[in-house]
Formats: sequence, structure tokens, C-alpha cells
Amino acid sequence: MKALFINGSPRTKGNTAQLLGRAMEGARKAGAETEMVNLYDRSLNYKGCMSCFACKIRGGNKGVCSFPDDLKPILQRAVEADILVCGTPVYCGYPTAGLRAFMERLIFPAVNYSDYSKPVILNPKRSATIITMNCPNEEVYRQINYPYLMDTSAQQLGMFGPSEVLYSFDTLQFNDYSRYDADRFDPAHKAQVHQTQFQSDLEKAYQLGLRLVEDSK
Ligand SMILES: Cc1cc2nc3c(=O)[nH]c(=O)nc-3n(C[C@H](O)[C@H](O)[C@H](O)COP(=O)(O)O)c2cc1C
Repeated sequence: MKALFINGSPRTKGNTAQLLGRAMEGARKAGAETEMVNLYDRSLNYKGCMSCFACKIRGGNKGVCSFPDDLKPILQRAVEADILVCGTPVYCGYPTAGLRAFMERLIFPAVNYSDYSKPVILNPKRSATIITMNCPNEEVYRQINYPYLMDTSAQQLGMFGPSEVLYSFDTLQFNDYSRYDADRFDPAHKAQVHQTQFQSDLEKAYQLGLRLVEDSK
């Protein structure tokens, strides 16, 4: 069983990457073959959907984006994987541009223009989205109406099978807040949340990875 983890944060050791890493450990523990892709790896050259419509040509190769750039082999592995977990920080209310580009290229080829109700499914999978943010809690998250903007990624992943979301709120953005012009954040509070809530989020991520694999058996 293959489990692919997509890090949509530019930080390879940040909150999103740590949570994805723990989910990956859980998946590995449950017996999956795992891989992490850092979308912001500087060696990767890609854009979002180029509107070439190769995926819509009658009689053509459906389901996977064939645009020839560095994302193509990653998208191939994503559609072949049994489990797909995407992680992203909230950037100005949305998933990061890198993850959006990935999602456009993953989702659009699976959309069936002849019948929206029947997406082109190459390999049904279980999926999850991990979302990290400064936003302090779920109540504020819903007030700001982030769910509409953010959870669409998870809903779209649901095209490939059952999907769930893990939120991590009030994350530690800077190791040393005193170096930054960021007085609206209380460093002591951030440190405390990091030592308690974030540790529990890491455990939730581990359990998520474990569960996704166990449920797929
Ligand atoms: C460009 C940028 C925009 C951000 N916009 C938001 C936002 O709209 N809402 C929010 O709650 N946090 C926002 N944040 C904070 C990040 O979502 C948060 O620090 C996240 O946990 C960072 O993830 P990482 O450690 O994996 O990079 C933003 C951060 C950056 C760099």
C-alpha cells in the first residue's frame, strides 16, 4: 500500500511539515510504503493548470495531467497512491499557491466534462488535508469563513474517496518573536500552545496516518 504526503508549505521543518511527518510515521507503522514531496523544493519547476485540455481530448488519456514539467511524475504517483495526504498553511485565507497549483493539476483531469457526477477515478483512495494557521481556534476559523476557502481542497480530494481534515490552530510562526515586528502575538502564549496543543496535534496526525492505512486494508 502506498501513501503519498504532499507538503504545501515552503518550510520543510515548519508546522505543516512536522504534522505531515508524524502522519507519515503513523502510516509507515501501519505498514504503508510512504513518500513525502515538498512542493516548494527549489529543484521543482511547475505551474498550475496550463489549460492545454489534453485531459479532455476525446479518446485521450484521462485522469492524470500530462503537462510535461516537474509536477507530472508527482501527479502520476498521487493518482496511483492508495492514500493521499496534503498539508498546507493558511496563506491570506487560502491554501498556499503551491498546493493550489498541485490541486488544479490533480483535480481538473479527474473532472468528467461529460458527466460531473462521475469523476474519472484511476485509483480510489482515502485522503486527508492538514491545515495549519495563526487563527486561534475553530470558532474564529468558522467566523472568518475560512472553511469555504480552505476545506474545498479536502472536498475536492473527496472526489478520490473518503476524506478528512486535521486543523492545527494558533501555530508557532517564529522561533524568536522578539526579532519580528509582530506585537499582536504574545510569544509566551505561542510557546505554551506549541508545548501543549501542538504536541497533541502531532499525536492526532500520527493517529490519522495510522487510521488511513488501517481503514484501507
Ligand atoms: C504569506 C502568509 C500568509 C498567512 N496568512 C494567514 C492567514 O490568512 N490566516 C492565518 O490564520 N494564518 C496565516 N499565516 C500564518 C500561517 O498559516 C501559519 O504560521 C502556519 O502554521 C505556517 O505553516 P508552516 O510552519 O508549515 O510554514 C500566514 C503566513 C504567511 C507566511
